[in-house]
Amino acid sequence: MCGFQIAIDGPAGAGKSTIAKKIAAKLNYIYIDTGAMYRALTYTILEKKISIENVDAIINLAENCVIEFRNKDIIINNKKVTEEIRIQQVNEKVSYIAQIAEVRKILVNTQKKIALNNNIVMDGRDIGTIVLPKANLKFFLTASVKERAKRRYNEMKTKNNSIDFNKVLEEIRKRDKIDENRKCSPLARADDAVTIDTTGLNIAEVVDSILITVKDALKDSSV
Ligand code: CDP
Repeated sequence: MCGFQIAIDGPAGAGKSTIAKKIAAKLNYIYIDTGAMYRALTYTILEKKISIENVDAIINLAENCVIEFRNKDIIINNKKVTEEIRIQQVNEKVSYIAQIAEVRKILVNTQKKIALNNNIVMDGRDIGTIVLPKANLKFFLTASVKERAKRRYNEMKTKNNSIDFNKVLEEIRKRDKIDENRKCSPLARADDAVTIDTTGLNIAEVVDSILITVKDALKDSSV
């Protein structure tokens, strides 16, 4: 395996994407937000008005769609959906789509291919366990559910003033429950992952602590 792979997993709103993005920028590595891939697929399912019960149609769509990252954008079948994938309807449905084993197989394969021979920071739910089990470094970010809901609420409030905190909290709880309990590659901490509880820590503090570990590991590696 060439390249240095960093896996960052954790539940909704633990700060993975923000932190992974900053780590990748500091190291000049590729950054892959795997949640954005599940979200892009979910958005397209909603757009095409496919029922989330219609598993065959969903699998067919997953098999036939092309998901790409271009610069800071996520593209599905040549359509930029960077902003659209963050809407509430996608938040509510994405975990149902992500629990379909065939869908995961397709997206996990794509993720493995992207990571192959690259210096990469990848974040998600199953990166350290399933996608990149041999990653050079694995981190598991957590925070209390209240803190995670507060962060997501503040983030969403800048775009939508009528957002309700309790609804956000409920949605995060529901998503965590589905993600942790699904049969196929559930949200889980890899045995060799470093756990960071980010409750009460700011972004810079988490980034610095990860970078110290990365720099130590890079000294010992041939990359
Ligand atoms: O950013 P946030 O914490 O809201 O979640 P995300 O990383 O955008 O992921 C959205 C959803 O996609 C998760 O709740 C999971 O259901 C699913 N997902 C997954 O199953 N496996 C991954 N590797 C990444 C995301």
